[in-house]
Amino acid sequence: MAHVVLKDLVKTYGSFKAVNDVSLTVNDGEFVALVGPSGCGKTTTLNLVAGLIPITSGDIVIGDRVVNGLDPKDRDIAMVFQNYALYPQKSVYKNLAFPLQMRKLPRDEIDRKVKEAARVLDMTHLLERKPRELSGGQQQRVALGRALVRDPAVFLMDEPLSNLDAKLRVQMRSEIKRFHQDLKATIIYVTHDQLEAVTMADKMAVMNGGYLQQYDSPAQVFAHPVNMFVASFIGSPAMSLIPLEASTANGNTVLTGAEGWSLELSPRNAQKAARATTKKVVLGARHSTIKLHKSAVPGSVPAKAYTVEPTGDVTFVQALLSGVIVNISVPPNIAVAPDEQIWLEFDQERIHVFDGETEMALKAD
Ligand SMILES: Nc1ncnc2c1ncn2[C@@H]1O[C@H](COP(=O)(O)OP(=O)(O)O)[C@@H](O)[C@H]1O
Ligand SMILES: [Mg+2]
Repeated sequence: MAHVVLKDLVKTYGSFKAVNDVSLTVNDGEFVALVGPSGCGKTTTLNLVAGLIPITSGDIVIGDRVVNGLDPKDRDIAMVFQNYALYPQKSVYKNLAFPLQMRKLPRDEIDRKVKEAARVLDMTHLLERKPRELSGGQQQRVALGRALVRDPAVFLMDEPLSNLDAKLRVQMRSEIKRFHQDLKATIIYVTHDQLEAVTMADKMAVMNGGYLQQYDSPAQVFAHPVNMFVASFIGSPAMSLIPLEASTANGNTVLTGAEGWSLELSPRNAQKAARATTKKVVLGARHSTIKLHKSAVPGSVPAKAYTVEPTGDVTFVQALLSGVIVNISVPPNIAVAPDEQIWLEFDQERIHVFDGETEMALKAD
């Protein structure tokens, strides 16, 4: 396996920058997810690493080589795509063997590699079947196997689970994770699904509009999103982002909502708000960090229930506050009705404070 370095990577189509100065290092054996909304440049970035499209500028290093000018076949990579692209007329065995035959490996070595891949992916019993005799998940496993037999330095995967139904996707998610753990493979995995990235990856590279927004472990990105885009993209239901106005009097900083209520900030949050470029401050809170009250308690702010979604274990309440929808989760035994007057209490240790102008997270000392 090998590490991968992207340095100031740029891809332009005419005047449009699909990939904008992306720099990151994927360590040897790491599982990195490129995640972001549709059109943010994930596939383009992966195809640049694969060599399927030429870079505009920057460098790509795989192992100890700069591979900028190398053909895909010389980059020591294997790709797994959303559509598995299996040969329909060939058995699973032959599908796995084919890339090795093309490389003119000796027959017994091919046989050994195919059987080893089948063992790792638990599909020895499927080797004589044709793709149409396999389920979607089994076909995806064959596609993984075909990458595996090539014993590449790096696996590149582009939304490999998107064609599967929801249940199978969850199952294959853990299989690919297991595949990574067993092989200690270097994997770059593209997905638009933040949950896939969070659950599978050692690190995630969150992209938006061709720019890398944040590159860190899922836990760090979740706990410390660098800006409002990352804050709202990672986590489900999404973090609520409430636009407020900061003011300070007698040494106390308060945030004022559109309805006129004020929330006094803790000293640490006041320090963050003081760093905003204007009075516009956005309070960010995940559903689990907001308490819902049926009557006013000190430190709570008035809101109105909008919709109520029981899911069994937990009930999600959407409330209107300062002109936006706020997501709150409550135990299922708490009955809330739409349009009911409620009060929300924010956990000041866990809220996020963003600059309303630059949309960047504000930090305390
Ligand atoms: N060959 C191309 N010519 C022009 N624009 C392209 C081309 N390929 C991709 N793009 C544009 O680049 C942006 C990023 O595309 P892509 O990397 O496929 O996004 P993602 O995989 O994140 O959904 C999109 O706006 C897309 O329309
Ligand atoms: Mg894509």
